[in-house]
Amino acid sequence: MRTLLLGGTTEASQLATALAAQGVDAVFSYAGRTANPVPQPLPTRIGGFGGVAGLCDYLRANSITHIIDATHPFAAQMSRNAVDASLACGVQLLALERAPWQVTSGDHWIHVPNIAGAVAALPDTPARVFLAIGKQTLDAFATKPQHHYLLRLVDPPTSQPLPNTTVIIARGPFDIASDTALLRGNKITHIVAKNAGGAGAAAKLHAARALGVAVIMIDRPTLPPRRIVASVAQVLAWLGHSADRGV
Ligand SMILES: NC(=O)c1ccc[n+]([C@@H]2O[C@H](COP(=O)([O-])OP(=O)(O)OC[C@H]3O[C@@H](n4cnc5c(N)ncnc54)[C@H](OP(=O)(O)O)[C@@H]3O)[C@@H](O)[C@H]2O)c1
Repeated sequence: MRTLLLGGTTEASQLATALAAQGVDAVFSYAGRTANPVPQPLPTRIGGFGGVAGLCDYLRANSITHIIDATHPFAAQMSRNAVDASLACGVQLLALERAPWQVTSGDHWIHVPNIAGAVAALPDTPARVFLAIGKQTLDAFATKPQHHYLLRLVDPPTSQPLPNTTVIIARGPFDIASDTALLRGNKITHIVAKNAGGAGAAAKLHAARALGVAVIMIDRPTLPPRRIVASVAQVLAWLGHSADRGV
């Protein structure tokens, strides 16, 4: 039995700690999007596999019997590839997925299906927008250059991502007090967020609620059917391990 853990989230790192504590034979996989990924207590590989075919080759070459997909809910391509490769290669697949955030009273959320929807939902008059969406899809907002954009990125950008921006370099988890100060200090009127769920990135939503800031919430992409659990303990149980020992 050998497990491939597809990571890139806080939950994946927590699971890696649990697997290492249990002595589970597992490899951690990062896409390689950040310059200094969080070190893991498991053997770690970095970089894409080369689509479904490349992933199948990797599974066979490394005698992988189980895949755990603990990628971000918006890492849809990797998750689709994992489903296809598990079917093609007869490798078992489990997704560790956190629940999406739910709107509560006091929130001002505008639901949109994707990045294009988020761009369209921004007003035409100049606004001050916190783009809490990482670095990969910032270009889409160039069609609305009238806004000032606050970006929070893990690595410094190599070029100016948008004309009118303030860039902050920080890695989560974030807390409510500092996110409230961030929104206030930058006079933010709108936040664009992906409905990632989980605790580490939720502080901005609490801060937005307190300050009456509008949130343009991008709903999750649809994924093919797969077995999903919500906790590290459930993953361990699926692998035939108990969460009692050292977790
Ligand atoms: N999307 C987000 O908002 C977001 C936020 C926080 C963290 N992340 C993390 O950042 C990574 C990349 O996200 P993404 O949205 O760019 O993914 P994606 O669009 O689903 O994946 C694009 C390609 O990147 C490679 N890849 C993605 N995750 C990988 C992993 N864990 N190990 C090895 N290769 C991986 C795969 O390349 P090949 O086809 O060549 O195998 C995949 O087809 C993921 O690990 C995710 O957990 C994403």
